[in-house]
Amino acid sequence: AASSSADVKIPKSPVVILMIGMAGSGKSTLMHRMVVRLSKHKKVYTVNLDPAVRNLAYPVNIDIRDSVNYKEVMKHFGLGPNGAIMTSLNLFATKFDQVLNILNKRAENLDVVLIDTPGQIEVFNWSASGQIICDALAVSYPTIVCYVVDTARCVKPVTFMSNMLYACSILYKTKLPFIVSFNKIDVISHDFLKEWMEDFEKLGDALSRETSYVASLSKSMSLAMEEFYRNLRSVGVSAVTGAGGEDFEKAIQEACTEFQES
Ligand code: GTP
Repeated sequence: AASSSADVKIPKSPVVILMIGMAGSGKSTLMHRMVVRLSKHKKVYTVNLDPAVRNLAYPVNIDIRDSVNYKEVMKHFGLGPNGAIMTSLNLFATKFDQVLNILNKRAENLDVVLIDTPGQIEVFNWSASGQIICDALAVSYPTIVCYVVDTARCVKPVTFMSNMLYACSILYKTKLPFIVSFNKIDVISHDFLKEWMEDFEKLGDALSRETSYVASLSKSMSLAMEEFYRNLRSVGVSAVTGAGGEDFEKAIQEACTEFQES
């Protein structure tokens, strides 16, 4: 039979999800939870970009630790922990074409690529290597940022504000579809954060309990953040219990529609 256009095989791209968040927010635990959950109906691949992490519960397919020895980098360059993470990422970024080659070879058989990043987020986000890695991924694949937040630590409104300012700056820097995952909802529900994001007055009330300088600064900043919150896709999850997993998957699907629109 003559081949029709229906026979032409269009390679489908896996969705790449970059897990970004402060140290201890639960990125690695959430990675594990999502690997377990998504693997039931999707082909999942994992990349670890944290050179200093000790144990990871999920199976790692591509691991920065296989090519860069963080302890040796510290010794060899006489660096502290953050400098060594940055230098390790720089070294790895020079080989990132190899990572892309591996992904490209497997792309056809993959649905999701989950990427774990170092908790010292500034090291990832503000370094040239972080940018190179993000750009290289985003050019090749639909790439989404999942910003992980420790909900319990956001009880203090000023901590919440500074975490959201960080999230906002990452959104503007990467310009990628964005999901905020309020993690650890087994400890505390994220309902109060939804309220704060929906109602500027409620955040104002919470802030008024802070010292006057911080409160007035945060209040004026939260006004500026209204626009960011209005368009923000957020979900509550627990990496430990698995609560919110369905919402997380839905948010990913929604975020993917941004690629179709653009
Ligand atoms: P870094 O590697 O330092 O960047 O940390 P991370 O963001 O990868 O966090 P990690 O997954 O190591 O979790 C930090 C701590 O929070 C661990 O003790 C986890 O067990 C705990 N944790 C993570 N997710 C949850 C959660 O949903 N609920 C509870 N109660 N604890 C959690």
